[in-house]
Amino acid sequence: MTERREQIYEGKAKRLYTTDDPDLLIQFFKDDATAFNAQKRGTILEKGIVNNKVSERIFRHLAEHGIPTHMVERISDREMLVKRLKIFPIEVIVRNVAAGSLTKNLGIPEGTELDPPVLEFCYKNDALGDPQINESHIRAMKLATDAQIGRIKELALRINALLRPFFAERGMILVDFKLEFGDHGGDVVLGDEICPDTCRLWDARTREKMDKDRFRRDLGKVEEAYQEVCRRVCEEARV
Ligand code: TMP
Ligand code: ASP
Repeated sequence: MTERREQIYEGKAKRLYTTDDPDLLIQFFKDDATAFNAQKRGTILEKGIVNNKVSERIFRHLAEHGIPTHMVERISDREMLVKRLKIFPIEVIVRNVAAGSLTKNLGIPEGTELDPPVLEFCYKNDALGDPQINESHIRAMKLATDAQIGRIKELALRINALLRPFFAERGMILVDFKLEFGDHGGDVVLGDEICPDTCRLWDARTREKMDKDRFRRDLGKVEEAYQEVCRRVCEEARV
């Protein structure tokens, strides 16, 4: 059995531990929830368990369709064994429907379909509030090479093309989501997690929000929404 050794990182929602294998880490999922660059803090009960399970199911779907991911396996309720990546300090956001910061910054009404999907980059830096950047900033700041940027864009759009029908079959609209990639021995590999913290998901019939926006905006029924996403994603339920 793979066991946690030294904690090497603590983020807002996860901790990372070394294992006896230098190429493998354990990603531990917490219940802590933050929003607006950690100005708002709280707990979403059993969120760590849900996000671990949902991420596992989604990473498995992506891997089955040729997307390189860091997941090795889910080893307990809150732990996932992953390959050790050198994470690019870039958040990659894909948007299919206008919501969140896009509505605020560009004045496009929430719910407007975006065709083709919009791809954005943010500089992963809490002190600066993760500002939006473009490819020319990435080059100048040497956050990734041109080849890596090209691969990140290609993978992000392929992931979107795979996940939209995946969620649609489960009665959900994939409004937008955030990805993180890293280098693993020269390859660009998908890391982090994909879950109701990092995606906006709306019920396809009622358009009710089923993601972290319920926490961000105090909409109530936060735990219920996370559990329902988990049920639809993991139990192969179709609605
Ligand atoms: P935004 O509309 O606030 O820019 O968020 C876009 C998507 O990225 C949304 O699905 C939530 C996700 N996201 C994160 O995963 N982490 C973050 O820190 C932020 C701001 C957004
Ligand atoms: N997780 C981020 C934070 O605390 C933002 C968010 O998800 O809204 O800052």
